[in-house]
Amino acid sequence: MEPAKTLEACQELKPSALKGRDVLRIDEFRPDELQGLLQLALRLKQWQKSGEAYQPLKGKTLGMIFDKASTRTRVSFEVGMYQLGGTAMYLNGKELQLGRGEPIRDTARVLSRYLDAIMIRTFSHQDVEELAAYADIPIINGLTDLFHPCQALADMLTILEHRGKLKGVKLAYIGDGNNVANSLVLAAALLGVDVRVAAPAGYELDEAIVKQAESYASESGSRLLFTRDPEQAVHGAEAIYTDVWTSMGFEAENEQRLKDFADYQVNERLTRLADPSYIFLHCLPAHRGEEVTSEVIDGANSVVFDQAENRLHVQKAILTAVL
Ligand code: CP
Ligand code: NVA
Repeated sequence: MEPAKTLEACQELKPSALKGRDVLRIDEFRPDELQGLLQLALRLKQWQKSGEAYQPLKGKTLGMIFDKASTRTRVSFEVGMYQLGGTAMYLNGKELQLGRGEPIRDTARVLSRYLDAIMIRTFSHQDVEELAAYADIPIINGLTDLFHPCQALADMLTILEHRGKLKGVKLAYIGDGNNVANSLVLAAALLGVDVRVAAPAGYELDEAIVKQAESYASESGSRLLFTRDPEQAVHGAEAIYTDVWTSMGFEAENEQRLKDFADYQVNERLTRLADPSYIFLHCLPAHRGEEVTSEVIDGANSVVFDQAENRLHVQKAILTAVL
């Protein structure tokens, strides 16, 4: 094995301006910063595959606060820190004093004395903003009800790898205008990906997010379309994305949602309208038989496990850049 890579070796790929930055929403990054992170992720992925060590985070500790379940986020952040030479610590939100009412602002100031960064998965995006306002270490959003920025970066990397480019790629998102959709559309608009979103009435993307995406799209040349019609969205698509109909925290609405989303399943009939070489994306976990059929998610066009793997590589890029 080669000697450990130095930080300098990665310097041209490391957007050094990102040091100390929080990662609360994907559009905190400019398009060139996102491109830098994607390039860094690709390089880190290459090094990991070829067994080359790159350990710039020796002695650094990431705290990971979880108020919701997780498989990918928890394991990929922990493994990512380990591979970069650092350590990660799982913190169950309910078991912290936070769960007994200790203010977020005190938790932020205390944890800043022990940790080098915090990754948090919780319900309210405002709580994460408050944590970031009072912490003096980087705060990384590992999913809130509003955003999932690390997922969006992994999604962009997966599209880039499988389609060879981002600009002008036709991406269709079918289903709930949720945290994953918000971040996906913002990332796509910043990077010039064309997106068509088909959501049923009452489940559209937040208006402010649509406006924000439209303003990024006018800069990047990305074309955006918001419709109720999944067929219109999928027509000629080179990538099709869906997510669960009932996100964490919305379980009480499950029965109603099953009815409201019944026409929004990604199945063979719908995918026949896409470009024959389309790729199928899903952030996972998936509910086969609801938002997607097993023919599609387990079929030849599905890249969902590459996409899940890419969480590791993009988060290593984020950690390297902000720490
Ligand atoms: N996609 C994603 O964030 O997965 P987990 O909920 O398993 O972390
Ligand atoms: N939208 C889903 C994503 C899970 C990774 C949720 O919030 O439950």
